[in-house]
Amino acid sequence: MKPIVLLSVLFHHGQAVSVARPLTSAASCPTVSLNASTNIWTQYTLHPNPFYRQQVLNAAKVIQDADLQKKALKIADVGSFFWLSKSTEVEKVTTLLEDVIPCNHVVGIVLQGMYSQANCTSPKYKSTELAAYKASFIDPLATIIKSNPSTAFAVIVEPSTLPSVIIHSDLPSCAPAIETYRTNIPYALEALNLPNVVTYLDAGHGGNLGWDKLQIATANEIALAYNASSRPSQLRGIAVNTANWNSWDMSPGEFDQSALEIWPENHAQNEQRYVRLLGAKLAKVGAPNHAVVDTSRNGVQGLRYEWLDWCNVDGAGFGRRPGVVGGANELADAFIWAVGGGISDGTSEEGEEGYDEYCGKPGAYKPSPPRGQWNQAYFEVLLREARPYIQV
Ligand SMILES: *[C@@H]1O[C@H](CO)[C@@H](O)[C@H](O)[C@H]1NC(C)=O
Ligand SMILES: *[C@@H]1O[C@H](CO)[C@@H](O)[C@H](O)[C@H]1NC(C)=O
Ligand SMILES: *[C@@H]1O[C@H](CO)[C@@H](O)[C@H](O)[C@H]1NC(C)=O
Repeated sequence: MKPIVLLSVLFHHGQAVSVARPLTSAASCPTVSLNASTNIWTQYTLHPNPFYRQQVLNAAKVIQDADLQKKALKIADVGSFFWLSKSTEVEKVTTLLEDVIPCNHVVGIVLQGMYSQANCTSPKYKSTELAAYKASFIDPLATIIKSNPSTAFAVIVEPSTLPSVIIHSDLPSCAPAIETYRTNIPYALEALNLPNVVTYLDAGHGGNLGWDKLQIATANEIALAYNASSRPSQLRGIAVNTANWNSWDMSPGEFDQSALEIWPENHAQNEQRYVRLLGAKLAKVGAPNHAVVDTSRNGVQGLRYEWLDWCNVDGAGFGRRPGVVGGANELADAFIWAVGGGISDGTSEEGEEGYDEYCGKPGAYKPSPPRGQWNQAYFEVLLREARPYIQV
């Protein structure tokens, strides 16, 4: 099949910049069959989520500083995941697939149909009963994926839910949340067990589930989901660092040299260690243990007052760009950008609807608009603070 070469033209400061992109639409690609016993990221590149890409291009247009604007344009081309958080957004997946997707690109989707932001006793916890979850999220998503057999997909399953289940397992009020997790997650894993998909089950990060006393419970819960979904071949392992984040490899961890003294009960204070330590526990219980690691906003370390400070962390920078991890950590498949940097985690205005206290804390960027809205100023912080630096 002849590859179609399109010229996408960007206008800025009156200059036309032509970017040659060899593009083949997925419709003309061969049928995809992903072998989840292998690291698919050695063959596939994360496709830039076109909605986020457009937000970044719009943001670039209003940047005055020419150098910073060039950096923003670079970020538009970085691969990123699409978040499926509302049932009304399912049709956006179809729109997304109208993008021209090269045959060697993989479309990333974060599935967040169950929602738990803080803990399962909080009113913010909205458990989604299986019938609604199936009808609103999983079945339509599986249908779309099945009707696009020539497109490769990587799906991160339900960030934030496992930490709730593990951390609050002894709270009677959390029993319904745990029950929901144990029915919904296996259903999702089984329904998405399709040849053109690899799935990664969210496993929080080293700061919440890396505690020595929680690692075994975490591995067991994952094994339970794996068994309950009939051990799906396409489940590759875990996704880490998406809801709240840590350093990849700062030693001993995100905070400082004395972190191991402050928290001797946590030996997984960076994600590199977390992937290794939890991975070993997963291997023991016979569950898949490879990982993708979200590095979208972890470029800068040592910014926070507390590990729990997850919201719009002030001074954050874009982190490592998506791609194969390589090197010594054989369990880590790839760095990915799950979170779209520049999209607000939540409003900093106390009293506004949806306000979470973490978004108003001293280490959170202010002002920040409500969750999901674009924050231009914060996006520019991420650009300036990006590590590695954005080469233009
Ligand atoms: C998948 O990869 C594994 C590991 O390389 C290999 O043993 C297996 O045969 C492959 N499966 C298929 C269906 O190609
Ligand atoms: C859960 O969140 C609510 C509201 O944010 C808070 O009041 C409560 O203390 C939290 N419970 C636990 C066990 O952390
Ligand atoms: C999962 O199934 C395997 C094989 O039947 C079994 O050995 C293991 O104990 C099960 N794990 C859990 C957590 O149920």
